Amino acid sequence: MLFIEIASKDKIGEAERTLQELTAAARVARETIDVTIPGRRPRPGHLHPITLMRQRIEDIFVSLGYLVEDDREIETDFYNFDALNIPEGHPARDPQDTFYTTEGFALRSQTSTVQIHAMQRRGAPMRMIAPGRVFRRDTPDPTHNPMFFQVEGLCVDRGITMAHLKGTLAEFVHRLFGPETKTRFRPSYFPFTEPSAEVDYSCFNCGGSGCRICKQSGWIELGGSGMVHPNVLRAANVDPEQFTGFAFGLGIDRTCARIYQLDDIRLLFENDVRFLEQFR
Ligand code: DAH
Repeated sequence: MLFIEIASKDKIGEAERTLQELTAAARVARETIDVTIPGRRPRPGHLHPITLMRQRIEDIFVSLGYLVEDDREIETDFYNFDALNIPEGHPARDPQDTFYTTEGFALRSQTSTVQIHAMQRRGAPMRMIAPGRVFRRDTPDPTHNPMFFQVEGLCVDRGITMAHLKGTLAEFVHRLFGPETKTRFRPSYFPFTEPSAEVDYSCFNCGGSGCRICKQSGWIELGGSGMVHPNVLRAANVDPEQFTGFAFGLGIDRTCARIYQLDDIRLLFENDVRFLEQFR
């Protein structure tokens, strides 16, 4: 009896030791670090190319004394159309062009709406730019996307003329593309300006001799512009007898696509990291 007891005690002790060795070995195996494996690098984020472009544009206008305004993306008919001198029945109001939400509201189709908000808020004189998203019922293709970015500009004061408009946009393209850049104004029509003009700048790549980027024309379209229509000033409670102004609207993503020579503007909206990483 005594013999059996001693024998089983030994066995238990042995089993305990084996168990301890096994758990120790398992822990060592589990906690072993291979210091030769390369680390997992954190992937720092960076700004989107459209944001970079917007900041470059903002920097230029802020240095020229402009405020940066921001405003809503869903607008009433008044701000979207009436105040901008776009009469009822105008094709721009067509539901085929505009995303209407609830009755009387629509996603803004241009940043020109901010002209009215800014003048109502601040009165005249004033100088502002308003970068932001706009929405149009376009089918996406290499040069169109139903959501894109514009920057609006507005300068209202006593005695503002077309010369101020031309001088401002000429200075803008000098700073953005270099002092040798030329501008060209072509007569055009916008309901909210009179007279109105399309603005082109000489191609930053070929300097005007013609290349693939400017489609051999030597010129690249910057956007629309003009002298603010008296009806627009009136709609924002600014007296057109005392004040005149100029306004302009440029495409941020369009300019971005040109500068980076993108073949397809939709690349800017697909959030493909392999594309975006190239702009860090
Ligand atoms: N809102 C116009 C567009 O989306 C661009 C534009 C043209 C803005 C002339 C202006 C302007 O302020 O004066 O096509």
